[in-house]
Amino acid sequence: MDTERLLPDDAGYDRASQILHKGGLVAFPTETVYGLGGDARNDMAVARIFEAKGRPRFNPLIVHVDSLETAKRYVTWTDTADRLASIFWPGPLTLVLPLKDDTGLSPLVTADLPTLAIRVPEHPVANALLRRFNGPVAAPSANPSGKISPTKADHVSKGLSGRIEAILDGGACGVGLESTIVGLADTPTLLRPGGLPIEAIEAALDTTLEVHKSDDPLSAPGQMSSHYAPSAGIRLNATDLADNEMLLGFGAVGEATMNLSPSGDLTEAAANLFHHLHMMDALGPEVIAISPIPDRGLGRAINDRLRRAAAPRP
Ligand code: TXA
Ligand code: MG
Repeated sequence: MDTERLLPDDAGYDRASQILHKGGLVAFPTETVYGLGGDARNDMAVARIFEAKGRPRFNPLIVHVDSLETAKRYVTWTDTADRLASIFWPGPLTLVLPLKDDTGLSPLVTADLPTLAIRVPEHPVANALLRRFNGPVAAPSANPSGKISPTKADHVSKGLSGRIEAILDGGACGVGLESTIVGLADTPTLLRPGGLPIEAIEAALDTTLEVHKSDDPLSAPGQMSSHYAPSAGIRLNATDLADNEMLLGFGAVGEATMNLSPSGDLTEAAANLFHHLHMMDALGPEVIAISPIPDRGLGRAINDRLRRAAAPRP
């Protein structure tokens, strides 16, 4: 299959929407990372998302919609959901809520769970596409399962070219980390740290979030330990450098090959993280050593991704 490269203009949105309506797959930019989109009501399209990524079927997908009002058609709404959605949507926050009956969504999207992960992205290209398509779009990150997430159209082509119908090129993603996932089917629980800092969510709810324990596979089935893996090995919290290593720095470090943020800014580091990992991996070092990153704000999500990138691989 030839993968078309589409531009974010009228013709591009029309073509992308037409492909989605026919059950095809379109990668598109969101403010977090590029998503691999398919019609969430179409079993074949959703099955093809899993196939294109090599993703296990028990790992459910996030449904993307154009507005809070549309989201309410699919999930049982709560006061807490309303509070978070009214403050943070559109934006890098995914809510997991009880799935309503008869939504028309493919059961493959939720891997038969009684809950649905849903979000309203903020990126203008994602929004324009959702409005043009006028339906729910299931979209995991547009990378082969287990690999580094894509923050540019070229990252998507590198991983999925020939396996999907089109890539809508909207430039680099601004946030650079996947959405923060909060479970609201029960006590508010952080299921995945991400592009919206936990501190902001806790301030909005005036309570601390429970943190999901990764030995509970059903509540966040996708949180496998090895993920975001480059070809090179990864060593975290590096304060020195061995001969077989290249340094991905943070803050004022001297000998870094690349630096996530020379000034030590976590927002900048988040936006650079996956792109720098893609670039450094292409240089072919045996090991990428990474400077310590403070574990607050977006640093929590950055460290979560780095721990998975460093985890033993299957
Ligand atoms: O920023 C993002 O969230 C990006 C963009 C494209 O929106 N998407 C993304 O999707 O990161 P993905 O598939 O790579 O990660 C979704 C995560 C997985 O860990 C999955 O297990 C979890 O969400 N998830 C999906 N549905 C769930 C549910 N009903 N309950 C708990 N976790 C769920
Ligand atoms: Mg992913």
